[in-house]
Amino acid sequence: MLLLNCSSKLHQLEVTLRRRLPETLQVYGAVRTINRGNPVAQEVLVDSWPDFKAILTGPRKEQVALDSSDFYTSMYAGYYRDLGAYRELLSRAVNWDHAFCIHGLRDGLYEASRDIAKDKGVKLEVFRYFAYFHPDPSSIPEIRLDPNMRLSTLDVSHLDVMNENWPYGGNKYSRRFMDSLIRHFPNFCLLDSAGQLVSWSISDTYGAMGRSVTVPQHRGRGYNGVLNNVLAKRLHALGYPSYGHVAVDNYTMQRLQERQGFHRQPNLCHFILHNAALYRTPTLTPKPGPATTPA
Ligand SMILES: CC(C)(COP(=O)(O)OP(=O)(O)OC[C@H]1O[C@@H](n2cnc3c(N)ncnc32)[C@H](O)[C@@H]1OP(=O)(O)O)[C@@H](O)C(=O)NCCC(=O)NCCS
Repeated sequence: MLLLNCSSKLHQLEVTLRRRLPETLQVYGAVRTINRGNPVAQEVLVDSWPDFKAILTGPRKEQVALDSSDFYTSMYAGYYRDLGAYRELLSRAVNWDHAFCIHGLRDGLYEASRDIAKDKGVKLEVFRYFAYFHPDPSSIPEIRLDPNMRLSTLDVSHLDVMNENWPYGGNKYSRRFMDSLIRHFPNFCLLDSAGQLVSWSISDTYGAMGRSVTVPQHRGRGYNGVLNNVLAKRLHALGYPSYGHVAVDNYTMQRLQERQGFHRQPNLCHFILHNAALYRTPTLTPKPGPATTPA
């Protein structure tokens, strides 16, 4: 196992992962962000170099140790070319006494976690998401903005409303996580004529779009569609792939992605929670949203 902290190797890794998009989406985005200032102190672990067969990106050790039950910070992205090498890396690279989450698009990530967890007596929970990827966001037609709304970016004064309305939020960890996201990563929001927050969408250290919400009284008017459009174009302009994760039962968000030409990837993205029992107030199970019936 190697900690990859040499800038030329990290750039070489970025180039290699880019050639393998979209199956490398999450690790590619993480490495790209690390190579551009690494604002949230992430690191890259590989099984070997230069012929790596498995990668994990995640928080630097000193950050994980600060709080053993914060899934938002203890988030890893995994990718492999050889599942055996990935299993070996996973069992050694992460502190299995803590709560942590791994996500990625490759088949077998869940099974690797499951088998190691069984040996170590660790409990898992898994959430399945579709990954939506747009091969050419510059081709997404512009959507005309409602003249009563103003396009803006998020700031700390919005955090309470964001935390209250995000289905995975509502606790101190989620608030701190969103605070960090809006300080470091591209995001957009719509404000009404009184300056109140109506809808928002935020990207993260993986270059993924997400945390999208429209406050309930303003849903179904195309607001989040506008933000999805502008954020995809912004990330594309910064050289990131435009993609996001949508829960398998969130039909509204799936239709929104598909209307804009995002392609649903054949593999599911698994978010695998390890030691979820360490973190129970509240769980990461999303609150049910409206309009989640199939078309
Ligand atoms: C998912 C969510 C962000 C969508 O926000 P939104 O602003 O309502 O999104 P849009 O209005 O752009 O699109 C949603 C629906 O409104 C419809 N719509 C868009 N413009 C419209 C208009 N002018 N008049 C009426 N309906 C309209 C869309 O067709 C779409 O309907 P469909 O699902 O039947 O296709 C919002 O429902 C929400 O906050 N849900 C809870 C949190 C959540 O699930 N977030 C996603 C996490 S990935």
